[in-house]
Amino acid sequence: MGVWEGAERRPLISSMAARSEPHFFGRRKGKSLRPRQAALTENLLPRLRVNAEVLPTLQGASSPPHQDLWLEIGFGGGEHLASDAQSHPDVLFIGCEPFVNGVAKLVSTIDEKKLQNILIHDGDALEILRALPDASLGRVTILYPDPWPKFGQRKRRFISPETIQQMARTLRDGEEVRFATDIDDYSGWTLARFLASESFDWIAREATDWKKPWAGWPSTRYEAKAFREGRTPAYLTFVRKARS
Ligand SMILES: C[S@@+](CC[C@H](N)C(=O)[O-])C[C@H]1O[C@@H](n2cnc3c(N)ncnc32)[C@H](O)[C@@H]1O
Repeated sequence: MGVWEGAERRPLISSMAARSEPHFFGRRKGKSLRPRQAALTENLLPRLRVNAEVLPTLQGASSPPHQDLWLEIGFGGGEHLASDAQSHPDVLFIGCEPFVNGVAKLVSTIDEKKLQNILIHDGDALEILRALPDASLGRVTILYPDPWPKFGQRKRRFISPETIQQMARTLRDGEEVRFATDIDDYSGWTLARFLASESFDWIAREATDWKKPWAGWPSTRYEAKAFREGRTPAYLTFVRKARS
């Protein structure tokens, strides 16, 4: 039985939109959902949604029956998130994704695999970061965020001084942000901003570490596309420095 089983969750976005600047610029909807996905989105998604009331009380290391709380930002179709949740049943996951078709896909997987440790925010991840308590997270994962490659679009990128400051606030000391991208310019952008924040160290034990995914890595749909199109991904790990 999942921790939130039975209770209908009110969408976080409705209660928080008034005070949050939007940080989402992509598509919310693609093609029509298949009937099963549409039914699950209507019936199961409301029970998986994280709500505004519970967020300020979530503390990863002390949320029985879970031992930790991890956040995945922009989960796409949820392949990586579902696999991570299966491999770590003692961790409660919050997945954020505003794209309706991606959310529907993950909700189907949750139903098929009977996963009990995923909560969904079908909106902007920054809203979740802003609402979580200090030092509540044991990991943040951001895989292939939208690249916004044109110069004028780059301010739309998810990685920004505010999102980094919120990750620094919500992660416990010594815990990780895992970031992957196949866009050279986005690796440099991300490195420069994390290192400027003074709250994170970039962990690269060897010079080629950025080329290797993490142990037990379940690849993502977007990564498969990057390989097909001949791009080399970079995998960056940032560790939250000890608070002084
Ligand atoms: C290029 S896709 C990558 C999806 C997936 N991580 C993968 O590797 O296959 C980037 C995803 O981030 C989502 N996204 C964009 N802005 C977001 C935000 N502010 N909060 C949460 N997700 C966001 C998009 O809807 C999109 O599905």
